[in-house]
Amino acid sequence: MTAAHLTARRAGPLKGTVRAPGDKSISHRALILGALAQGVTEIEGLLEGDDVKRTAAAMSAFGAGVERLGEGRWRVEGRGGFAEPADVVDCGNAGTGVRLIMGAAAGFDMSVTFTGDASLRGRPMNRVLKPLGEMGASWICRQGGRLPLTLKGGNLKHIAYRLPEPSAQVKSAVLLAGLHAAGGAEVIEPEATRDHTERMLRAFGAEVEVRDETDGRRIVLPPDQKLVGTRIHVPGDPSSAAFLLVAALVTPGSEVTVQGMLLNPLRIGLLDTLGEMGADLSVTNVRDEGGETVADVTARHSDLEGVEVPPERAPSMIDEYPILGVAAAFARGKTVMRGIGEMRVKESDRIALMAAGLSACGIGVEEEAETLTVVGAKQGNHLVAGGAGVTTHGDHRIAMSHLILGLAAERPVSVDEPGMIATSFPGFVNLMRGLGADIEGA
Ligand code: S3P
Repeated sequence: MTAAHLTARRAGPLKGTVRAPGDKSISHRALILGALAQGVTEIEGLLEGDDVKRTAAAMSAFGAGVERLGEGRWRVEGRGGFAEPADVVDCGNAGTGVRLIMGAAAGFDMSVTFTGDASLRGRPMNRVLKPLGEMGASWICRQGGRLPLTLKGGNLKHIAYRLPEPSAQVKSAVLLAGLHAAGGAEVIEPEATRDHTERMLRAFGAEVEVRDETDGRRIVLPPDQKLVGTRIHVPGDPSSAAFLLVAALVTPGSEVTVQGMLLNPLRIGLLDTLGEMGADLSVTNVRDEGGETVADVTARHSDLEGVEVPPERAPSMIDEYPILGVAAAFARGKTVMRGIGEMRVKESDRIALMAAGLSACGIGVEEEAETLTVVGAKQGNHLVAGGAGVTTHGDHRIAMSHLILGLAAERPVSVDEPGMIATSFPGFVNLMRGLGADIEGA
């Protein structure tokens, strides 16, 4: 049985060297492309979180041979396409999983019904359905483009789709659908978003052209691509490493090194922001692993200053604003995060939940439609109070952020639904305990 709550309280400094779990975005893509490809794909370092396990189960429902060989080691035998699943595909909590799989499935002449947990069933799927519809797919769903949804694919035509919102999930869904569309697909993104799909398509032998144009980045997938199974090494997830690094920055006396962290330039806006706040961060052992740059990143306890985070940085750190809110709480002065409206359609409305959680912990916050302002506690020369029970609405990043806050606050902080942390960071609590954190609960 798992605990209904976890409680974090102030203890000694955090010290040690750890590996971040495998990158969630890359893990989903490795399984999906492996299943679409012809032949065997061997994956190392796969994130074995609940979200990714749902994608693995979905790939076997679509006819791929999916086998776990050992910790993080998976083998996918692709059949060069998808077969119609015999049952509903349940993607759990995973927005990335369901949106990418819908894109991939749309290329085939079959009907598939998708669902997910309560959070996923509340999230907008229209952003993916709109381009897939323009390509020729059809569907029936709940109001507002919500799951459960039955998608009918096949006979897709070319699209040149300009992303209305900066979303790598939408870009990826269109490119995956484009694999089986007459004429392929093009996506124009006004703001660059994570490019793991483009990189991995190339690793599987596809041709992908990327051009910087005056109105954004144009990604062109020519028609008739053949994907061939390959080996994928999944680097450490910077979005998970973020919790470990910020924990060290805010807990006096700490020094924590995260090994093998992905340093893709479209994923590391948080490192830039923390640097501007005066964080003591060092990046060593920079190397190439499977086409991505990785490094070891060390964070030491630091005196942080509030900053203005420019809106154009949002796509490169969209999942990191909750933990940035915690760093900001311990800083001197205000941190203003602008242009973060996309935070409202994640696993929860993360602007609202961070504002509520931080304010319950005694931090001054101001919430606007697309902006969150956090008034650092150092301003009045006092510590972060803490002492709250935080409602997470089942959002893993809201839970981990507030637990980190509790490690350095005056009074303990509790979070509900801690089991959801396993969607992206199984082993988070034990790893933190190993570094010296006092976190109580199963
Ligand atoms: C992801 C893209 C982002 C991010 C999510 C993972 C991906 O979502 O928040 O956690 O793997 O493509 P959006 O595409 O909605 O911005």
